[in-house]
Amino acid sequence: MTTNYRRVAQLRTADQFRQHLADLGLELAFDDLIQSGDQSPLAQPYSVHGRTVGNRFAVLPMEGWDATPDGHPNDLVLRRWRRFGQSGAKLIWGGEAVAVCHEGRANPNQLVMNADTVDSIAHLRRALVEEHRLHYGQTDDLLIGLQLTHSGRFARPNDKKRLEPYILYDHPLLNPKFKLPHDYPTLTDDDIDRLITLFGDAAVFVQEAGFDFVDVKHCHGYLGHEFLSAIDRPGKYGGSFENRTRFLCNITAEIRRRAPGLQIGVRLSAFDLIPYRPGADGKGEPENFNGDYRYAFGADHTGRTIDLSETHQFLDLLESLDIRLVCITAGSPYYNPHIQRPALFPPSDGYQPPEDPLVGVARQIAVTAQLKRQHPNLIIVGSGYSYLQEWLGHVAQHVVRTGMSDVVGVGRMVLSYPNLPADILAGKTLERKRICRTFSDCTTAPRNGLISGCYPLDDFYKSMPEADILAKLKHPEAT
Ligand SMILES: Cc1cc2nc3c(=O)[nH]c(=O)nc-3n(C[C@H](O)[C@H](O)[C@H](O)COP(=O)(O)O)c2cc1C
Repeated sequence: MTTNYRRVAQLRTADQFRQHLADLGLELAFDDLIQSGDQSPLAQPYSVHGRTVGNRFAVLPMEGWDATPDGHPNDLVLRRWRRFGQSGAKLIWGGEAVAVCHEGRANPNQLVMNADTVDSIAHLRRALVEEHRLHYGQTDDLLIGLQLTHSGRFARPNDKKRLEPYILYDHPLLNPKFKLPHDYPTLTDDDIDRLITLFGDAAVFVQEAGFDFVDVKHCHGYLGHEFLSAIDRPGKYGGSFENRTRFLCNITAEIRRRAPGLQIGVRLSAFDLIPYRPGADGKGEPENFNGDYRYAFGADHTGRTIDLSETHQFLDLLESLDIRLVCITAGSPYYNPHIQRPALFPPSDGYQPPEDPLVGVARQIAVTAQLKRQHPNLIIVGSGYSYLQEWLGHVAQHVVRTGMSDVVGVGRMVLSYPNLPADILAGKTLERKRICRTFSDCTTAPRNGLISGCYPLDDFYKSMPEADILAKLKHPEAT
């Protein structure tokens, strides 16, 4: 089955794009003309904790499922990070998810931060800075963070296809969806205390490696995010809002004590929805659930409608902890990818988009704007822009110019077209053949045990043997 949503690449003029948005009933404003030069809204610097950051683009964290088994970067990781440096974006939000311990890896090839890997991860950061210097000269206006994580329910440390979950509570839908019995053991409070120490250990290495900030990941269904919905969990880490955020508060205290001067950021799934599954026609539909659904942070008790009350409370908490860097994302790639990374072509294990992907883009932008409006002191980074394709710069400029977000983050687009931010800032015509069309091969590949990369558009991946394997997996009838 293929979807028949109108392709963005066909919307060649601002009027056509505007009309299409109107047809969809979407209020997604954009600037018809992108400005370049020093006065461009996207070229404006901003400051955070006394540092000046040179423009309004960020590279979002993008992992490749390609590090060495013992958690070191290799040439593929190095290539990706160099390309992040080439992008022209002055904020590097996290680079990619890096586990605080082996058991917390989302796959056996995820980077791990420890005494053994700190030097090679420091080299990765230096390579990015060097690449940025080669292309743009100035580097003192770059801000670079590393994303620290524990994959929790989605840990696969030893085998790409085998979950070895660490869960906080019996989730009524996710336990069965991922074949966990309802009595599957949950992490104890002592286990959690030990993990907090591990985050502290890793943060010390992050500082040693020269990063400006550490992102304490709270998104996409991984452990940090699961705390926020741990309403049913007894004890000091579950139930009340205060208890569900104790993990973050304790990690923050640990980092401040052990790595003073290291800035802290949080990437947050600001809203979540009930898990989706393919319906009879292949299109995504919400799972059935009878009763109060209390497990989607940032949604109401139907699990189908956004409710940002607790999200606002969470951002208030961040401000009170003097955490000013916040990257907004949504949901999870494992159970509702369409709200997180809107795509025309879903990953092979997913479902056909239940809505025009532009709806998903507009949803993230609108939520981000609401959060920014109520929390003007935070530096807010938005996500989910890649599906805008030719219109990314137009929407980005409008968002930044009107204060709907401080920074525009770019994820998948950076894999196919790393220097898109630089081209937009320089007022160049975009190279259409490098624009990400959201084929989702970067997700389908790792879901099938392969390294991630842009197989359709990046010649480097196109020519790899993995590209043939992927093509056969996607189109078995052609073999
Ligand atoms: C291949 C791939 C790897 C990703 N890796 C990470 C990651 O390590 N950490 C994270 O927070 N988000 C990760 N994401 C999510 C992206 O950062 C981003 O939120 C998402 O792709 C939507 O932004 P976009 O529309 O610009 O792609 C990943 C997404 C993809 C497609």
